[in-house]
This record gives sequence, C-alpha cells and structure tokens, in this order.
Amino acid sequence: MTDQSAELQIEAISKAFERDFERFVPFKGDSAAVTSLDLETAIAEQRAVTELRTRYLGKKSELAATKKLIGRVAPEKRAAVGQLVQSTQDQLEMMLDQVELNLGNHIDNERTARESIDVTQPGRRPRFGHRHPITLLRERLEDVFVALGYAIEDGREIETDFYNFDALNIPQNHPARAWQDTFYTTDGFALRSQTSTVQIHAMQRRGVPVRMIAPGRVFRRDTPDPTHNPMFFQVEGLCVDRGITMAHLKGTVGEFLRRMFGADTVTRFRPSYFPFTEPSAEFDFSCFKCKGSGCRICKNSGWIELGGSGMVHPNVLRAVGVDPQEYSGFAFGLGIDRMCALMYELDDIRLLFENDVRFLEKFE
Ligand code: FA5
Repeated sequence: MTDQSAELQIEAISKAFERDFERFVPFKGDSAAVTSLDLETAIAEQRAVTELRTRYLGKKSELAATKKLIGRVAPEKRAAVGQLVQSTQDQLEMMLDQVELNLGNHIDNERTARESIDVTQPGRRPRFGHRHPITLLRERLEDVFVALGYAIEDGREIETDFYNFDALNIPQNHPARAWQDTFYTTDGFALRSQTSTVQIHAMQRRGVPVRMIAPGRVFRRDTPDPTHNPMFFQVEGLCVDRGITMAHLKGTVGEFLRRMFGADTVTRFRPSYFPFTEPSAEFDFSCFKCKGSGCRICKNSGWIELGGSGMVHPNVLRAVGVDPQEYSGFAFGLGIDRMCALMYELDDIRLLFENDVRFLEKFE
C-alpha cells in the first residue's frame, strides 16, 4: 500500500461514516432531540448506533483492515499514516460515545419513570368474591353427614338410561319416565333427572356395606316457576348394610334435620311412592320459623315438606349384584334449591340463578 492510497482510503472511510452518522447528529448535543424520543424508539436508536460502531470500528471494519497494512507504508511516512488512522478512529469513537451516552441516559430515565409507583396513591382494595348460597348450603349438608360417618360421592351429570332409569327399577315405558322427563343427547345419553343415579355407581364401585351422600346438579323438562327450574340441585343419601330397617332411615333423617334446624325439630313421614324404594315415604319437618304454629313459610300448616325416601327396592340391589336376602338399605333425596329458598325466605328459586350481584352479595 502506498502512503497516498492509505490516506485516500481513510478519507473514504471518514466520508462514508459521516453519511451514515448524519441522522444521529441531533442526538449528539441537542438534548431535546433525545428526550423527545419515546422509550421504544430510543432503544431502537441505541441499537442502530451500536451497529454503526461495529461496522466502522469493529474487528472486521475497513479501518481495522487499513491499520493492518500500515507496515507496508514507506518507513518515513509510516508514523504520519499511523497517526492519521489513530486520530480518525478517536474521532469516530468520540462521536459514537456521545450519542450512546445521551441515548443511554434518556433510556435509564424513561425506564425509571415507567417503573416508579406513587406510594402516596390510595391502594385499590380487591373485592373478594364469596360462595354461592347453594354452595354454602351444600357444604353445611356435607358437614352434617360427614359427622354421621357418610362418604361424599361425586356423580356424573350425563348418564345412560341404565343408571337414570333401568337400574332404579324404572323399565322402558314405566310412567315414572314421563314424570322425570329430562334432556337427551343425540347419541342416547341423558342429563340425569335425579341424584339417585349415584346410588348405583356407588354400590358398583364401593360394594356394600356403603354409606354415602351425593350432592349434585340434576335436570328435568320442567317449566321455570317460583318452585321449579329445569336445572337444580339435589342431595342423595344411601345406607346399605345387613339389618338396616326403616327405623335407621327415620333416625338418620331426624338427626340430620335436628342438626340443621335445631334440637326441637320434629320429623314426620308420609307414605309415598318411588319406583326405587319400597316402602317409600316423603318426609316433612316442623317449621323452623314458627315452630309448628303456622306461618307464611310453612303455608300455615306448621310443616315443611322436604324430600323423598324409602327402603332400597330389592330390584335395585339386584341390579348391582347385591343379594336383597342378605342386605337391606335406605335412601333419601331432597332438593337443595328449595331448601335454600326456605331457609333464606326467598319467594322464588329462580333468584338463585339470575346472577344478580345485588342479590348474591346478601349471602356473604
Ligand atoms: C326424587 O328425585 C327422588 N330421587 C328422591 C328420592 C331419593 C326418593 C331416594 C327416595 C329415595 P322428587 O322428584 O320428589 O324425588 O324430587 C326431590 C326433590 O327435588 C323435591 O322434593 C324438590 O325439592 C326437588 N325438585 C324436584 N323438581 C324440581 C325442580 N324442577 N326445580 C327445583 N327443585 C325440584
């Protein structure tokens, strides 16, 4: 390399740098040009400056290549060319440093401003949710029965005809199918119309003896009115063992109601009919509000009707392979929504599913 071509080369590098650096010139001194940049733009500009530094001062830059060739310059000119290369490098570095410093300071300030919090601002109090009244009641029911030694079973909401009807002694064309008409899927499944289905699952899975309750959602083709919804909650109870009698049923339901409504609660059983129990009975309890003297809640009768019950039908035991000569049991079931409406003196069970926060807040 001749000394002249080295000087020309350095001049060309300087010129090219000036062209590329031109758009960063305002960031060198004028602070407003830097401080008016938003954080994202300032970061992008900083990255562009770093790229420019690599291109002009990096190991693979033209300036670095020129430096390597200084040895070939005539000895008497070598010092001058060397100085020229060094001063060009110093100048480029100084310009880049200034821009990088200004951008860097601005980026730091912006980040600090963005991340800072005003500790004098009043805090935003989180609003805690709470459980739905039906859930609150379901948990109370569960507590009572767990204390009496019952397990809690989880059932399925979609069932086959076998669990919803056949195994419960409700064969095809039995009138009880119409009384508990439900919603069917296109492939032969049905939404369960009662939690009694869980009796079958529980005996199949746990075998006997068994003592369990099964709270859960059920469905019927009932038109909504103050005491009916097409979707509601029931709780089922089942106890099967050797020597279980109607006395155990009456004792258990009576104890459950005393624990729910007070020690002086009286229970009464009325003969009834359910295909899966024989004999069957509906049970009422003395009104918790007027203690039997008659009020709006008990419709002046002194009694509140709560659910159905009976001794498990031998056909139900047979359907799950249990010998009715050896085992007997009782079952009962009640509607949680109606019980909830009674306890909170609601005139209409539909209120429970309207999701009106003003109503639901009352149960906190
Ligand atoms: C049954 O469903 C029986 N499985 C109960 C049973 C279990 C009897 C075990 C014997 C042995 P029933 O159809 O009466 O029975 O319904 C039970 C409760 O569900 C009723 O007392 C009522 O509180 C509630 N219920 C029935 N239909 C509706 C509805 N459409 N909306 C809200 N609650 C309802």
